[in-house]
Amino acid sequence: MKIRAAVLEEFGAPLVVQEVDLAEPRDGEVLVRLAACGVCHTDLYTASGADPSGYAPTVLGHEGAGVVERVGDGVDSVAPGDHVVTLFSPQCRECVHCRDPRTNLCLAIREQQNRGYLPDGTTRLSRDGEQIRHFMGASTFAEYTVMPEIALAKVHPDAPLDRACLFACGLSTGLGAALNTARVEPGTTCVVFGAGMVGLGAVAGCRLSGAERIVCVDLSKDRLELARGQGATDVLVGGPETVDRVLELTGGFGADYTFEATGNVAVMRQAVESARMGWGLATICGVAGKGETLDVVPRYLITGRRVAGSSFGGVKGRDGVPQLVERWLAGEIDVEPFVSHTLTLDEVGRGFELMEQQAGIRSVIRFDS
Ligand SMILES: NC(=O)c1ccc[n+]([C@@H]2O[C@H](COP(=O)([O-])OP(=O)(O)OC[C@H]3O[C@@H](n4cnc5c(N)ncnc54)[C@H](O)[C@@H]3O)[C@@H](O)[C@H]2O)c1
Ligand SMILES: [Zn+2]
Ligand SMILES: [Zn+2]
Repeated sequence: MKIRAAVLEEFGAPLVVQEVDLAEPRDGEVLVRLAACGVCHTDLYTASGADPSGYAPTVLGHEGAGVVERVGDGVDSVAPGDHVVTLFSPQCRECVHCRDPRTNLCLAIREQQNRGYLPDGTTRLSRDGEQIRHFMGASTFAEYTVMPEIALAKVHPDAPLDRACLFACGLSTGLGAALNTARVEPGTTCVVFGAGMVGLGAVAGCRLSGAERIVCVDLSKDRLELARGQGATDVLVGGPETVDRVLELTGGFGADYTFEATGNVAVMRQAVESARMGWGLATICGVAGKGETLDVVPRYLITGRRVAGSSFGGVKGRDGVPQLVERWLAGEIDVEPFVSHTLTLDEVGRGFELMEQQAGIRSVIRFDS
């Protein structure tokens, strides 16, 4: 079928919205009609050429939500009409990692997905017979996409899809970092570094866990206001003195849990040093630049601080995303403040500009407008 999609033709150049061919879903694959898609830093990072593992041409986008249109042979967990959120982090339920509660890093299709192919090593996207690769196994800057069944989370049909798409990436990452990776306990003190989509999700996750005190650190006062709306009890403008400020706020000890959601390795270090001696846990969510390393003075670890990392918030997507969506529908999570702009597919470049200007938290592309 012919679909309209935003294609990365050349690194550093604007995406080109155009008609491309999408083939029918094969075994284990699903054709999804997209309703909405968030614009995320990872799309921009790849489009800029900064990501050394990036490739072109490809259809970008990975924060999608839509409706199942058709399924290939052997697909039994979703059916036409089901509402789904796309998962760049799939869940096959069979590999050694899927069967272990300690991780969400499914091994089933990693290699092909990283290279831009569907699990059988081919693409469904093409143009004039030339293949176009899939991005993060999703390619959701498009009217339709074909994805593996194991990379789709079936969500409650009442969930508005132009908000549900946020659960495809940053929001679930932040919520999950608190709920799954750190497993924040009630009555504790938490510090969240960064108040973008991921950090605000972590603030909400700490609140849902019953944390007594939630300190959010960011450079932007507007974003710190949003953090208050998600449950932050204290806010700090970040800087070189942040660790000292956190220690002052916590009786000299530091926090039970800290979260880093900036991608800056100096802030990651602050997150480690702001964690409490004895048991403080620092959870790193940010993606650092290639070759950058995290400096930790070993004494911090010997005296009982721990460091964890979290990919997609440790959320096993097909099980976990529908549960998070249910909590949103039940009124426990306030998603509305995260969506600052609604765009058409043709305006995808504007979505990148807004992100670079830090205007709002998320722009959402709607395909039905
Ligand atoms: N682990 C995962 O699975 C996963 C998933 C999505 C995103 N990420 C990563 O998480 C990070 C955050 O993503 P986002 O979408 O929220 O990004 P974002 O750019 O919207 O938010 C980052 C925030 O950090 C703040 N910040 C920058 N320097 C700071 C400092 N010195 N002190 C305090 N705050 C500072 C910025 O003001 C900004 O509000 C990125 O590195 C992103 O790549 C990771
Ligand atoms: Zn993303
Ligand atoms: Zn798996």
